[in-house]
Amino acid sequence: MMKQSPAISLWEAYAFPVGAAVGVRQLSDPAIAALCVREFSALVAENAMKPMYILDRQATLLGGSNTRAAITLEAGSPIADFAAAHGMTLRFHVLVWHQQTPRWFFTQGWDDTPEAPLVEADVLAERMANYITDVMQAVNRRWPGLVSAWDVVNEAVEPEHGHPQLLRTRNSLYYQIMGEGYIRHAFQTARRNAAPGQALCYNDFNSFQPDKQQAILRFAKPLAAEGLLTGIGMQTHLTMDFPASMSEYEQALRRYADLGVEVQATEIDIRTHDNTPTGQQALADRYGALFAVFRRAVRDGIPMGHVMLWGVRDCDSWLCRPERPAYPLLFDHTGARKPAYDAALQEEKQA
Ligand code: G3I
Repeated sequence: MMKQSPAISLWEAYAFPVGAAVGVRQLSDPAIAALCVREFSALVAENAMKPMYILDRQATLLGGSNTRAAITLEAGSPIADFAAAHGMTLRFHVLVWHQQTPRWFFTQGWDDTPEAPLVEADVLAERMANYITDVMQAVNRRWPGLVSAWDVVNEAVEPEHGHPQLLRTRNSLYYQIMGEGYIRHAFQTARRNAAPGQALCYNDFNSFQPDKQQAILRFAKPLAAEGLLTGIGMQTHLTMDFPASMSEYEQALRRYADLGVEVQATEIDIRTHDNTPTGQQALADRYGALFAVFRRAVRDGIPMGHVMLWGVRDCDSWLCRPERPAYPLLFDHTGARKPAYDAALQEEKQA
């Protein structure tokens, strides 16, 4: 029997924007583009708006400044153009992140040789502020009203690094050069450049784990009280048994909301390599439980921001490898809705 198409789509089912991470290549596929327009009201660039794709070293060297890197928005512009053309909003991922930011951004003379000496804290502070300022102003000028949320700082907490406040140290040149102050500096700069209504988010994975939650709350609380941070992004990369209970995730979401900020589920996928009907029904049950958390939050007046899948089709997922396929999302490799889709949508119909 042909499966009935649901009467409504994901974005129509919820009061908050629902979307997915995409790459430029995916949007050039008419079938995926049509699926995104039908199902989503928001997009986020999976990679194309990360510093490594925006920073232009040749133009930086030609510019001759020691504190202002040259930027280009071309890599991600097709995604922004698509979202704007279809009345969607865009989450901007990501301004300050220890990954996918070239090392030359942190070196004397923008030197890209492997062991080039690093700059001092005051120089990096200016470089960071100029980068955030130039990107936010260029994006808001080119796509006015499009960006609804900025991932200002991503993944600054890493309990395994042994910092007294569990901050990421070992692989963060921002931390190593500027210390913890880079977090506040990033949010202060973003605050000065945000357009009205744009959320300024701290984004991290496993943010429901008690130790990470405490570490995030410690620096986010004062930033939120000063209006510098207005959103917490819970990345939501889950597995079938982590967290053991969805109530752990729900309690964390509500603790973040208690800061008086919006909470966003920014990078949802639920890792499974089991594509059997039983395995996919178990995945559906887990998605149903997750979207029930979002629905209860809205019911209880918690400001739920974006709810974003980290990919469109299973085969698009960063978790899916040729040698080990994964099935973590709501649409299968053909773009067909999976039981997990029905579960996410079904929760709303039962509301
Ligand atoms: O662009 C190059 C391409 O030129 C080259 O041919 C190809 C093969 O080496 O690599 C391409 O770069 C890859 C990039 O994705 C774009 O596809 C990188 O190798 C690969 O490491 C990178 O992976 C991304 C990863 O972030 C990087 O850390 C994933 O797609 C992306 O899903 C993942 O997303 C992160 C979020 O940004 C932050 N939260 C965690 C999440 C999952 O790690």
